[in-house]
Amino acid sequence: MKMNWLLMTAGLAATAIAASIPALADDPILIKFAHVVAENTPKGLMAERFKELVAEKTGGDVVVQVFPNSQLFGDDKVLEAMLLGDVQLAAPTLSKFGRYTEVLELYDLPFLFEDLDAVERFQQSPLGQEMLHSVEGKGLIGLGYLHNGMKQLSASKPLRTPEDAAGLTFRIMSSEVLEAQFEALDAAPIKKSFSEVFMLLQTNAVDGQENTWSNIYSKKFYEVQPYITESNHGLLDYMVVTSAEFWNGLPDETREQVAEALDEALAYGNQIARDKAIEDKRKIAESGRTEIIELSDAERAQWVEAMKPVWQQFEGQIGRERIEAAYSANRP
Ligand code: LMR
Repeated sequence: MKMNWLLMTAGLAATAIAASIPALADDPILIKFAHVVAENTPKGLMAERFKELVAEKTGGDVVVQVFPNSQLFGDDKVLEAMLLGDVQLAAPTLSKFGRYTEVLELYDLPFLFEDLDAVERFQQSPLGQEMLHSVEGKGLIGLGYLHNGMKQLSASKPLRTPEDAAGLTFRIMSSEVLEAQFEALDAAPIKKSFSEVFMLLQTNAVDGQENTWSNIYSKKFYEVQPYITESNHGLLDYMVVTSAEFWNGLPDETREQVAEALDEALAYGNQIARDKAIEDKRKIAESGRTEIIELSDAERAQWVEAMKPVWQQFEGQIGRERIEAAYSANRP
């Protein structure tokens, strides 16, 4: 099973810390799972499925409480809160781990993956799995990847060529690669938390943003952005993360049950991600509230050319072998 390594390495520490866990018979162990997106999204639905599976598999010994829509913590605070023990599980985008590791920046490189099949191949490869360990030195444990999908560009004006984006302001997640990506277009990126995006767009405080179909749909960005360019220029995926202290402190059997529940919930969430990308795009198109711009091959090539220099900028911190391995996952 994928999580065997975690279960084994956690065994010794568990014996030492198990004494501090309340008696299972009386007091269920609580897992607070905080996230920022809506419930009807790949992450929101995965979290609910995980809650059900944990209840089933642990017979109620572990209770999961899900806090969607940034109700408990925004992505900028959730990892700090996790290290303090205020939340046990989260699944921030891979773009939001910059303070903890540089290697995950790989996933933000523009035009790296052609589709989710390529992403899946890379993530399940030894190199992709090894990257889940990259936050361990910081007291966190990466438990698995979850897909959302490919990002699209939305804006207050039509974006057909990279020149159309020049001079515009774009909300971005807290990632240096994404910052460089928009700077390569001569646009002005602004790092803001997800909970602020709708308001920023509605009040024209920023001109545009990049996100997946499911986030654009569930947070109604399409109602306040008259144009969406179907650029598929980057990936938005998640790492499910917990604190080493919490994870290693679980009794062995419980940890195994929770890990199994998560594996199943992730498989479910990954399928939802594929379905939602199609379904939510269709709903947005049918709403008539925004125009979806499809790029010709020649137009798309211009975006690739404008954004691709970002790869070289970050090669040092990400590692050339990772970039090459990820790119070659497009051609199995
Ligand atoms: C964003 O901040 O745009 C996304 O990361 C939100 C999410 O978690 O999908």
